[in-house]
Amino acid sequence: MITVTFKPGGESGRVEPGQTVLEVAHELDVPITAPCGGRGRCGRCRVIVANGCEEPTQAERDLLTGEELRNGFRLACEAVLMGDAQIIVPSDSRTVGGKILSEDTWRHLELSPNVTSRCLELPEPSLADQRSDAERVADGLGVPVADLHIDHAALAEMPGVLRANKFAVTAVMVGDTLAAVRAPHTEPCCLGAAVDIGTTTVVAYLVDLRSGERLATASDLNPQARHGHDLISRIEYVESTTTGLDDMRRLIVDLINRLLGEAVAQVDARRRDIYELTVVGNTCMHHLFLGLDPRNLARAPYIPVTTQPMVLSAEEAGLAINRAGSVYCLPVIAGFVGADTVGVLLVSRMTERERPTLAIDIGTNGEVMLWSGERLLVASCAAGPAFEGGEISNGVRAANGAIERVWLRNGTIGYATIGGVRPNGICGSGIFDIVAALLDSGAADSGGRLADASAAEKLAEGIASRLRGEGSTREFVVAPGGDNGSGEIVFTQKDVREVQLAKGAVRAAVELLCAEAGIGTDEIDEILLAGAFGNYIDRRSALRMGLLPDLPPERIQGVGNAAGAGALAALVSTAQRRYAAELARRAEHIELMANPRFQMAFADSMIFPD
Ligand code: FES
Repeated sequence: MITVTFKPGGESGRVEPGQTVLEVAHELDVPITAPCGGRGRCGRCRVIVANGCEEPTQAERDLLTGEELRNGFRLACEAVLMGDAQIIVPSDSRTVGGKILSEDTWRHLELSPNVTSRCLELPEPSLADQRSDAERVADGLGVPVADLHIDHAALAEMPGVLRANKFAVTAVMVGDTLAAVRAPHTEPCCLGAAVDIGTTTVVAYLVDLRSGERLATASDLNPQARHGHDLISRIEYVESTTTGLDDMRRLIVDLINRLLGEAVAQVDARRRDIYELTVVGNTCMHHLFLGLDPRNLARAPYIPVTTQPMVLSAEEAGLAINRAGSVYCLPVIAGFVGADTVGVLLVSRMTERERPTLAIDIGTNGEVMLWSGERLLVASCAAGPAFEGGEISNGVRAANGAIERVWLRNGTIGYATIGGVRPNGICGSGIFDIVAALLDSGAADSGGRLADASAAEKLAEGIASRLRGEGSTREFVVAPGGDNGSGEIVFTQKDVREVQLAKGAVRAAVELLCAEAGIGTDEIDEILLAGAFGNYIDRRSALRMGLLPDLPPERIQGVGNAAGAGALAALVSTAQRRYAAELARRAEHIELMANPRFQMAFADSMIFPD
């Protein structure tokens, strides 16, 4: 065995010799970026190794300069460790999602769920003790029977369960309601589910509320998409027919019921073992789930029906869980700032920091949150779907075959696809990288214009040969196709413009929030990136295109799936529910559309940095 230590994190361990640095890094949980999947093609997994390695491979000699090799630079996926080694991982080679804040927060929460269970050993009735069954249970719980609300089904089962178990039972409480009396030591005893209703995907996490352990996960696409992929189309559907709202509600409720069924089946439990659900989603998803009219969200001044946390019975929500179960919907903040944003505020703990902190969540909509150290400001901006591959000629969702990484090396472009298969399009993280590579190579200028024929003459051959077309139909070939051109992946002039619009909207929102808070963007201490966006994009590409204020990459970190984490936190902890509600109240929503300064900032922010 050999001893390997990573710096600056200090992770260390005894491992088998003969493994690559990347394999050992995975074993010791050290986040090293590997855009080409460790195939020795991108040259991005660079680390510094003083000794303990075999000689550099051909791929390392091709991708690293002579000077880099002399200074001890190696490719983590190629360098094989044979002896004790100290390895320095430069900030450029660390992955953005290495530390997921939401996971950290979730693991360290103190359990205080709204659903609790108590083991009761009750004296059996006798002629000298003729208390009713309900009174006997209430006394066991230490609650006057007159004050104990007992669910009717629990009451109906009570005599049989008490006698079958010789009066030693488990009582399950949902808040102040006795929801069930069960045989002792029944497993699972009390379950809860956290549901994240995304515009595209819906995820249900099943949790054991006694241990806080996540037992199962089930997810599927949001079936409301058949009435439109974006929020506005779905709201238009609600407007277009008298049954629109009911249709939308039924679609999402039926899906959640199905997902809960799948989740309980995974752990051999029953739906009636689920006593509580917590729900997050953007404001439109929240309204459609609750059957609240979303029409005013789509038109100025964008008013939601309510922003308050909502508590419903399982029956009111139409959910097939325990009859006495309840449903808790986290609060929303404004028409376009929903409970998903509350999730980011909750799990990132950004308001507990002393220095100004920025958080950004980008989906079809962009939400920007700024903690100035005193004020919490939030805004939403219409980033459009460009960063998710929408409106991009060869844009696709992140799935097998999507180009997820692009890099510039030795005067040409390299790329990696999800699953390492033939490319079938470009997903969000690839789009960021392509724009950064176009700017770095000179194939696009700061105004977003692709180099014309005369400008292309000055570019490296490997770049110039990929540019073709004229004016607005100019395009860059990212991946050549087969002999007949099929399967070719291009990035067009129009695609660059779409990215500029999206990036301009987000950056302008950042500028405006900073101005409102009276701080400069250079005073921001840390940037938190939420959701898939935060986990997968390359920070350097985001910085290169000017999406983010200029901070060292190591001060930018992923928050993970904050919406789901927010729902989980609220499920296992009533204290977190209160905290989420307080954050939602405290957040000052800044409306950007009506603000003339936003339009000016937007125009400036469309420019890419030189
Ligand atoms: S991950 Fe090592 S070269 Fe790409």
